[in-house]
Amino acid sequence: MRKLILAVTIAALAVVAFPSASSQPVRARKAMVISANAMASQIGGEVLSEGGSAVDAAVATAFALAVVHPTAGNIGGGGFMVVRTGSGAAAAYDFRETAPAASSPTMFLNAGKYDADLHHNSYISVGVPGTVAGLHLAWTEHGTLPWKRLVDPAVKLARDGFPISVALARSLAGTLRQFKRSPAALAQFSKKGEPYEAGEILRLPDLARTLQRIADRGAAGFYQGETADLIAADMKAHGGLMTLNDLKNYQAKKRQPVRGTYRGYGILSMPPPSSGGTALVEMLNVLEGYDLKANGFGSADTIHLVAESMRRAYADRAENLGDADFNPSLPIDRLTSKDYAATLRKTIGRARASKSSPTSFTWPTESNETTHLSIVDDQQNAVSMTYTLEAGYGSKIVVAGGGFLLNNEMGDFNAGPGLTTAEGLIGTPPNMAAPGKRMLSSMTPAILTKDGKLAMVTGSPGGRTIINTVLLTILNVVDFEMNAQEAVDAGRFHHQWLPDRITYEKFAFSPDTLNILKARGHDVRETDSQGVAAVIVVDPTGGVLEGGLDRRQADGGGAVR
Ligand code: DON
Repeated sequence: MRKLILAVTIAALAVVAFPSASSQPVRARKAMVISANAMASQIGGEVLSEGGSAVDAAVATAFALAVVHPTAGNIGGGGFMVVRTGSGAAAAYDFRETAPAASSPTMFLNAGKYDADLHHNSYISVGVPGTVAGLHLAWTEHGTLPWKRLVDPAVKLARDGFPISVALARSLAGTLRQFKRSPAALAQFSKKGEPYEAGEILRLPDLARTLQRIADRGAAGFYQGETADLIAADMKAHGGLMTLNDLKNYQAKKRQPVRGTYRGYGILSMPPPSSGGTALVEMLNVLEGYDLKANGFGSADTIHLVAESMRRAYADRAENLGDADFNPSLPIDRLTSKDYAATLRKTIGRARASKSSPTSFTWPTESNETTHLSIVDDQQNAVSMTYTLEAGYGSKIVVAGGGFLLNNEMGDFNAGPGLTTAEGLIGTPPNMAAPGKRMLSSMTPAILTKDGKLAMVTGSPGGRTIINTVLLTILNVVDFEMNAQEAVDAGRFHHQWLPDRITYEKFAFSPDTLNILKARGHDVRETDSQGVAAVIVVDPTGGVLEGGLDRRQADGGGAVR
């Protein structure tokens, strides 16, 4: 019987290459994987068809992304996974990078002066990677298929190679100059310094061997033995800080998700060291006090109220948040309470933009490359996972002999004590570098429930804009009753307290809306696209899954059954 079911489900698996021409979501009766790469989604979909859980599919998809989506898919970075089981249990897995033991609050200073390159762009900018430990921890608790089965497809992809897409060819060519700093990166991602062309096959034999060690030995295949030796040797040769001990001591953590409610929906998202869940719940609490539906999607009134909520949540984020293990009294309960939202609402004027006060500080630069995957299996177990190397291709350093890119996540720590400048550095204590500490993140993997049942899985890359992109996908579904694809397609905007302005995607605001916002005192500026959301909505009437995948990125894909 079991065999028969498997045969039927495998036959029923369809890989859907997004984007499609219509705003219709992709629909599935049972299960769905949405990720930034169709090949990776297919691998996750096959796992689901074999009876694997959503976490199994996330593990397989994530390892595959580390091969085919090297800008952000990774084993040398970190991230977060929020899991909700079909029976309602929820957990948040934290595999954020940690600062090596030799780190200190002044590590980004060079002869007493702040050095942005050291902070964002050097061997010092590499945090101890968390991805392999995090995937392994989540699998230990929720996996049903053998670990090796989940890593094997990535080994095969890396060993046998895969065709380079137009988008990847462009992206690799655009990063060629920066790869030159790392001979292993240049060797791996170019043809002796010449860019690959779309359609050529990219083979990654060193990465295949590293993945094979992980397949054979689990997390120890990364944090100990040959892989760890290769990382530590590369670090030592180039003045990096990470040691064998840092790697051996790395631990992924299971945490309680941040919880909230919004118009009858339950919200589950990521607690610190991400600021995402806290800021998301804070904004939703504020917005619950307004009738956004009556104000209308895209109206100046709605944009004004949402932007004012964003402004306040981002100010709180900057002032208060950091790694909870190093800041034992973070005010998460206060920031996510309905009472606090009510006091914030009293400070929002309907007719006038507030002013962000730059008396304290602004937030440091974060770049735009991360990736999110949303997965639901046929037991309604759900995974919302965002992981990253920080910048596109992270530090652009490939570990010699290891074949994988290292993150530059240390750049998410504050610049240095007292270093608060008008140019955007901040020097407040909660997010200062310290041995073993996790740097503050904006990643916001989120899961919504309604009446105790799974309702929505959402998330996005996009640095600081992530929290707002996730917020907008939720408002689009809950307040404006959009389907998953419409919710993803709709134009986005962003306010992050400082700089004090609303940025909006081209065509997101009409000219007259812009005029009203300006008249209220908002500084409004057009920007490039914002985020790459991956959304699954469970249709409440029939339990059918609707998937929305973002056309803002070229290679995205979904697998459904
Ligand atoms: O953790 C963070 O918030 C950032 N390091 C994520 C970087 C990012 O999202 C870039 N993305 N597109």
